[in-house]
Amino acid sequence: MTIDIATATADDAAALAVCAAITFPLACPPDSPPEEIQRHIDTQLSAERFGEHLAAAGRTILCIRDGSRIAGWSMVVEDQPADADVLAALTLAPVVELSKFYVHPDHHGRGSAAALMAATLDLAARSGQPGVWLGVNQENLRAIRFYTKNGFRRVGTKRFRLGDRYEDDFIMERTLPAGRSARSA
Ligand SMILES: CC(C)(COP(=O)(O)OP(=O)(O)OC[C@H]1O[C@@H](n2cnc3c(N)ncnc32)[C@H](O)[C@@H]1OP(=O)(O)O)[C@@H](O)C(=O)NCCC(=O)NCCS
Repeated sequence: MTIDIATATADDAAALAVCAAITFPLACPPDSPPEEIQRHIDTQLSAERFGEHLAAAGRTILCIRDGSRIAGWSMVVEDQPADADVLAALTLAPVVELSKFYVHPDHHGRGSAAALMAATLDLAARSGQPGVWLGVNQENLRAIRFYTKNGFRRVGTKRFRLGDRYEDDFIMERTLPAGRSARSA
């Protein structure tokens, strides 16, 4: 199967929001209140918010194109972390953040996520920073397994605010081959 991965542009904002509304709930623990999940989708994953991300310096969104729809997306952020728990946990610096990583359920288990990760690590490596980090919900065993398969290791914990409550995340990091392709490392 050919997997079409591209850098998203402003024209992709609406399709990214459609994909995000389907995939964000899959990353939430089963006991997450549906209204909090919906509020997060409405406020943080709207087409307008994607437009802001796509226009921002230091943020890049990659997407899997599947015909006219988007079947997965990742976002790399070049800002350095400010969260005290993250700073205390990371062993690498400076870093880029793998801020988002979501694949449509139609593509799970089919290699699409691996292809998106390879492209995302290549993008991160081109930043020249020695490391990449991410946060993942501690109950999201599938994502933790996927990230571990892709070279990330757990280095700490942090909390993620979803509405009025906090979720517990693992902090994971991996090295990047500075200035060259992660696939050729
Ligand atoms: C996380 C995600 C990108 C991974 O993509 P994928 O196509 O499912 O990944 P893969 O099939 O290559 O790998 C998943 C692994 O988890 C394993 N797995 C599946 N369900 C699992 C579970 N409940 N517990 C533990 N491992 C599990 C699979 O067996 C596989 O491991 P294996 O290759 O050793 O057999 C995708 O599932 C996704 O988008 N999920 C919803 C959004 C999400 O959670 N994003 C991450 C936010 S931090």
